[in-house]
Amino acid sequence: LGRLLVAVASLGFSVEGAAGGFDLIPLTELPLKTAGRFIVGTSGRRAHMACVNWYGAAQRQMVMNGLDRQPPAVIAARIVELGFNCVRFPFNSEMLFVSQPSVPNPGVVLAAAPELWPLSALEIFDRTLASLTDVGLLVVVNNHVSAAGWCCSASDGEGLWYTDKYSEEDWLTGIGMVANRYRLNPRVVGFDLRNEVRPSGMVLPTWGTGDASTDWSMAAVKGAQRVLAESPDLLIVVSGIHFGMRLSEVPSRPIHEEVPALRNRTVYTTHFYYGWSFDLMAYDMIGREIPALMMFSCWLWLLLVADGWLGRRHSRSRSFEGDFGQRMGAWMRFKSFAQGRWALVGSASLTLLQVVAICIGEHLGQSCGHIHIVSPPAFV
Ligand SMILES: *[C@@H]1O[C@H](CO)[C@@H](O)[C@H](O)[C@H]1NC(C)=O
Repeated sequence: LGRLLVAVASLGFSVEGAAGGFDLIPLTELPLKTAGRFIVGTSGRRAHMACVNWYGAAQRQMVMNGLDRQPPAVIAARIVELGFNCVRFPFNSEMLFVSQPSVPNPGVVLAAAPELWPLSALEIFDRTLASLTDVGLLVVVNNHVSAAGWCCSASDGEGLWYTDKYSEEDWLTGIGMVANRYRLNPRVVGFDLRNEVRPSGMVLPTWGTGDASTDWSMAAVKGAQRVLAESPDLLIVVSGIHFGMRLSEVPSRPIHEEVPALRNRTVYTTHFYYGWSFDLMAYDMIGREIPALMMFSCWLWLLLVADGWLGRRHSRSRSFEGDFGQRMGAWMRFKSFAQGRWALVGSASLTLLQVVAICIGEHLGQSCGHIHIVSPPAFV
């Protein structure tokens, strides 16, 4: 736990460092590859990808959030201004397979981009993606779900890479189509094969067990091969199992070493859910340290809240909202840069109420309340 504290403290310092943002990665550095634990450009220098997740197109609305408020080019420019150099760009498989994938209520969800109204969901995805790469941002496309909809629960039937409606072959066909579609755009640098692989009803995903219906390592290899057959230079992003949180079985089947096509291009991704993400650590350790980790995460949460209150008491000139909001803003930015994955909602600004809800919900609810869920058998 001592080491953990040190790690958290040193990450804390990088918040300030990251505030200025990351430089755009020049075209001459592309394609990217991996060397050891780093992503590197053609010069061999490290390429630090600071990606924000701009989402919406995977949901029923079929287009990215925020296009009701601003055209894509304005949002793209703002992403650069915020200090990101890359965008994770989720899609659903439905937009690829339905013959006329219409956007429901285009006049509403695309109010700020009327030129997109006549286009199909996939064409709007193309245009929005191009608006990002046109300003020099890199893109990692992500197969988020098969059927259009919000993600993710363990009971939505979308937890694996195949569903009742869309087979494994459909998934492979779909990701192959998307890889092919952007193969000539060098700034589309990565393919995140499937979002948050997780239980689907009673079926639990596994890693390295060799059971084709649950083994995400097998499916990820197939997915990677299909994508690379269409666009050979992409980085392949592979989610951990259990909502992307768990990579601890990867050493039992290290596909990035085992599969020649995956060498120097595999990026494992985890999703950071406060207390939940403690299960990124070896199970053995978690098993022993659950009470200590619970206390630690509760303590962190209390610290944040106390900090907000004390800040208010010390400085009467600053409002509670402003002060606390700023702190939460810094925390969000930290999360963005730390995990490369925080979401951008084009049109929303956080109100105090939302900030408090996020804080209580995520810190107290997940860290303090639920960490005990990290226990066998579900997470072994
Ligand atoms: C490929 O990856 C290996 C192991 O991570 C690394 O040592 C090597 O430098 C990489 N090769 C290139 C060409 O980057």
